[in-house]
Amino acid sequence: MTSLLRMEKYVDDCSAVFVQKLREFGKTHETLNMARWLQFYAFDVVGELTVGKRFGFLDEGKDVGGIISAIDTYLAYTANVGVYSEWHPFISSMMQKLSPRQGRGSMVEFTQAQIDKRKEDETSPHELDGTGDFLSIYLALHKKDPSSFTDQDLFAGCITNIGAGSDTTSISLSSVLYNLCKHPEALQKLREELEQKQANGELSNPVTFKESQACPYLQAVIKEALRVHPATGFPLGRVVPKGGATIAGTFFPEGAIVGINTWVAHMNVSVFGHDAELFRPERWLTDKDNYNRMDRYFFTFGMGSRTCIGKNISLMEVGKVIPTLVQEFDFELVNPDADLKTRNVWFVKQQSFFCKVSERHSNSQTTAEK
Ligand code: HEM
Repeated sequence: MTSLLRMEKYVDDCSAVFVQKLREFGKTHETLNMARWLQFYAFDVVGELTVGKRFGFLDEGKDVGGIISAIDTYLAYTANVGVYSEWHPFISSMMQKLSPRQGRGSMVEFTQAQIDKRKEDETSPHELDGTGDFLSIYLALHKKDPSSFTDQDLFAGCITNIGAGSDTTSISLSSVLYNLCKHPEALQKLREELEQKQANGELSNPVTFKESQACPYLQAVIKEALRVHPATGFPLGRVVPKGGATIAGTFFPEGAIVGINTWVAHMNVSVFGHDAELFRPERWLTDKDNYNRMDRYFFTFGMGSRTCIGKNISLMEVGKVIPTLVQEFDFELVNPDADLKTRNVWFVKQQSFFCKVSERHSNSQTTAEK
């Protein structure tokens, strides 16, 4: 929790830039690919959290260095060979010839450059006690014992964070915002809760993680959005241990790989009720036993020993930025009656979240201006 609270400032910095950009779009009334902008936001946040620097997607409003498109290509590849491993030699050699490897190279270069710069900067107090971003924590470990936390560990730690915490968080943010656009009654309730908290002096600007956790409707909206649209769309694989295992009445020998797709688990009507397919935040506003019963089947962050280690960071990020977005802006879907198009490449990305944005209180000051 202490580390999380320390990281809030990195989220706030990116939120300020994002709000400023949305204000500009509010003036021009252009159609935004919102999933794309939330991807810029989430990537820049994870850059700040990890190496203390944004990639620059938000500032420049584009996929700087082709990083995002290269990760997309790479994901499509891994998603396919993950299922059809016999295709690997053929696709891999095709990709080497055709695909832009440059983008992934840019991500590696960006990350390595920040590591090198920091290693040269002996003056930063954070590197000694690890009280800054992730890199400062890794550097403190490295300095303590370079043979147990090696240069390679430093790099792997940073790059894993960036890979695991960017698309996942942007998909989750998109789901929250998209579902609020599709369900104006939920948006209305959320705004009422936030306004009430504000009137009671219980919300800062920007909202702190702690304050966001004390907003039950906000938390229910986030939980439900992450249930109806989990970021990962393939089974979370596990190897059956020694002696085999009987799962749901079927015996699986040891060494077999079993798993469940989160999308399937989350549509289980015996757990979530007959309206499991619907976005209904109220289902989480129930008694403790019922909440815990459903929560045991909530797989968005996985489960057990390999559960997501970035879960709380993401929940902090989502919990802080959503109140800012819904309080400061109106979002109008361009095709409100159309179904959402998605693409499953392990991460299930929103393809058709297009909207127009407008400021709600044009006289209010943004976080960025304050
Ligand atoms: C809403 C955002 C996120 C979602 C939905 C998500 C989802 C997941 C899922 C489903 C897994 C596999 C769990 C399993 O097999 O049981 C996972 C693992 C992991 N996640 Fe996340 N994640 C998110 C954000 C993050 C962030 C921000 C970070 C790092 C800063 C991160 C780092 C990791 C790592 C390192 C693992 C591998 C853990 C292991 O294998 O021991 N994730 N995540």
